[in-house]
Amino acid sequence: MPPAVSDLLSSKRVIVTVGCGGVGKTTIAAALALAAARSGRRVLCLTIDPAKRLATSLGLREMHHEAQEIDPALWRTTGAGTLTAMMLDVRGTFDALVTRYAGSDEARDRILRNRIYREVSGSLAGTPEYMAMEKLYALRDDPRYDLVVLDTPPTSNALDFLEAPDKMIEAMDSPAIKAFLAAFQRTGSLSLNLVSKAMAKVLSGLGTFTGADFLTQIAEFLSDLQALFGGFRERAAKVRDGLVGSDVAFVVVTSPDPMAVGEAMFFVDHLQRHRMNAEALVLNRVRQAANLPAPSADRLASLLEDAKVPGAAELGASFSKAWRDMSTWARRDEFEVARARREMASVPRHVVVPAFDEDVYDLAALGHVAERLLGTVSAPPGC
Ligand SMILES: Nc1ncnc2c1ncn2[C@@H]1O[C@H](COP(=O)(O)OP(=O)(O)OP(=O)(O)O)[C@@H](O)[C@H]1O
Ligand SMILES: [Mg+2]
Repeated sequence: MPPAVSDLLSSKRVIVTVGCGGVGKTTIAAALALAAARSGRRVLCLTIDPAKRLATSLGLREMHHEAQEIDPALWRTTGAGTLTAMMLDVRGTFDALVTRYAGSDEARDRILRNRIYREVSGSLAGTPEYMAMEKLYALRDDPRYDLVVLDTPPTSNALDFLEAPDKMIEAMDSPAIKAFLAAFQRTGSLSLNLVSKAMAKVLSGLGTFTGADFLTQIAEFLSDLQALFGGFRERAAKVRDGLVGSDVAFVVVTSPDPMAVGEAMFFVDHLQRHRMNAEALVLNRVRQAANLPAPSADRLASLLEDAKVPGAAELGASFSKAWRDMSTWARRDEFEVARARREMASVPRHVVVPAFDEDVYDLAALGHVAERLLGTVSAPPGC
C-alpha cells in the first residue's frame, strides 16, 4: 500500500502547500486543515490570501489577523479537534521581529515610528514570503495547536517563497546597505552625493520624501536596523533550518496545465535538493469526461424534441459540441496527469482532485475536496 495523505495529517506538525499561482494552494490547505481537524487534531490554518472566498468557505464572515476558531457545529463530525484560521499580518509580524531584536525600547520606538520603515515594511519584495516563514516559525511550537497548515502567498515564482529566508540574509549583508551605512557612520550625516547610484534609484522610487529629511530618516532607520541585523540573521537561519525537519511536510499543488506541471517538477526538485520533504503531490482541477462516447447532435436533438424542448436542433448541436470539447480537455488532462506522476514519482503520495463544477465556496465543498485528498471517494478510471 502506498503511503496516504491521512498519515501526514496525523503525524506532522507543519504542512505547507506550495505551487504556482491559482492552482488551488489555498483551497487544498483549507481542505487539509479541515480533514485533520475532523480526525481530532487541533489545527491552525494560516493563510496569506486575503480573498474573501476562503473566509466564506470556512464559514467565517471575514479573515482576521487574530486567530479565529471556527464554530465546531459547522464542521465537526466526531472527536475533539479544533479548527482555527488566521490571516498573516505582514507588517505586524515585521513589527514583532523589530520588537524582539531591538537593543532598547528607544531603538524599537524609533524604528517603528520611522517613516521609511512604515513605508517599506509591508511592501519590500520578498517580505510577505519571509514573514510567512517567520510566523510559521513562531507558531509551530504554540501549545494550542497540534498542526499548523500554511498556505503560501500567490508568488509569481514559487521559489521566491522557499528562498525568502536566504534572501533576507543576503539583503542584510548587501554591499549597497553596507556602503550606505559606512558613509553615514563616517560623517554622522549624509549628503546626496554620498548615496550610491543604486541606492539613489531605490530612494527615488519612494517618492514621498525630499532631500535632507529623507536622508536623515533612512540613515536613522538603517543605523538602527543594523543593530538588529545580528538577531535577524540568526533568526532567518533558524527559520530556514526549521523547514528541513521531519515534522514538516510540503504538499506540492499543481493543475494539469503543462506550464504548472513544469513548475511543480522544478519545485519538487528544489525541495529535494534542499532536503525539504516533498511528501505529497496534489493534481488539482483535473477535468474528467463521462465514460460514454459523445452522442451525435442529431440524437440529442431528437431526444430534446421528444421532450418538447424549444430550439431542439440548435441545443442538440451545442450540447454535442460541449460534450466533445469536454472529452478533449479530459484526454489532455489525463495525459498531463500521467506525465506529472511519472516525472514526480519520487514524491511518495499522489492525489487527483477533480475540477468541480463550481468554485469551492463553502465548508461542504471543502469537505468534498478533503474526501478526495484522503481517498475516501474513489477517482474515476484514468485518474
Ligand atoms: N478542484 C477544484 N474545483 C473547482 N474549483 C476549484 C478547485 N480547486 C480550487 N478551485 C477554485 O479555484 C480558485 C483558485 O483557487 P485557490 O485560491 O485555492 O488557488 P491559489 O493557488 O491559492 O491561488 P493564488 O496563487 O492566487 O493564491 C478558487 O476560486 C477556488 O475555489
Ligand atoms: Mg492562495
